[in-house]
Formats: sequence, C-alpha cells, structure tokens
Amino acid sequence: MRWVDTVTADQCPAGTIVEHVVDGTVLAIANISGVFRVTDGICPHQGGSIGKGTLHQYETCIVRCPWHGWEYDLETGQHQSIPSVALETYESRVVGGVVQVGFEQ
Ligand code: FES
Repeated sequence: MRWVDTVTADQCPAGTIVEHVVDGTVLAIANISGVFRVTDGICPHQGGSIGKGTLHQYETCIVRCPWHGWEYDLETGQHQSIPSVALETYESRVVGGVVQVGFEQ
C-alpha cells in the first residue's frame, strides 16, 4: 500500500465532503462522524464531482451527485439503485492530522 497525503483533517470537518486531486486522480473525501471515507471523485454517470456533492441529511454516509442526483454509499461506493454502478473506494488513515489515502502499489 502506498500512502499519500491529502487534506488536513481540519479541512474536512465532520459532516462535510471535499474534492482533492492526487497524482491526477480526483478523489472525494468525506468525514462521517470522524471517520474518513474516500472514493473516486468522478461520477460514472456524466462526470459530476462527487466531492462537491451533498451528504444525506440523516444518513451521512450517502452522497448525492450535484449534477443529476445519483446517490452513492461512501463506505462501499455502491450506487443506491443501480447494482452494477459503484465508485471505487480507498483506504484512509489520519497521521499527524493529515488524511492519507492508500493506493495499491
Ligand atoms: S453526473 Fe452524477 S448524477 Fe449525473
């Protein structure tokens, strides 16, 4: 696993989601009650920014794409109504206040 620094934990407070680009890969980083979830940041529908989406008001592990409203589970990446569609998910950890994302070698 190759760990790469992204945003600081302070830049992504609980209940928020941000977009971040690492080595040309667009990621969405969400803070779900202190647990960071990282997925692909590009919606498979037509390329909307997942990191600029909105978290569900009650089930904050669900993000809604800002373009046409497709919804994904940020833990699994799974689209909420189309079984064949999912975002790639990445491991994350916080080291020294920085959210790191793990990429397979
Ligand atoms: S681009 Fe995400 S729902 Fe259309």
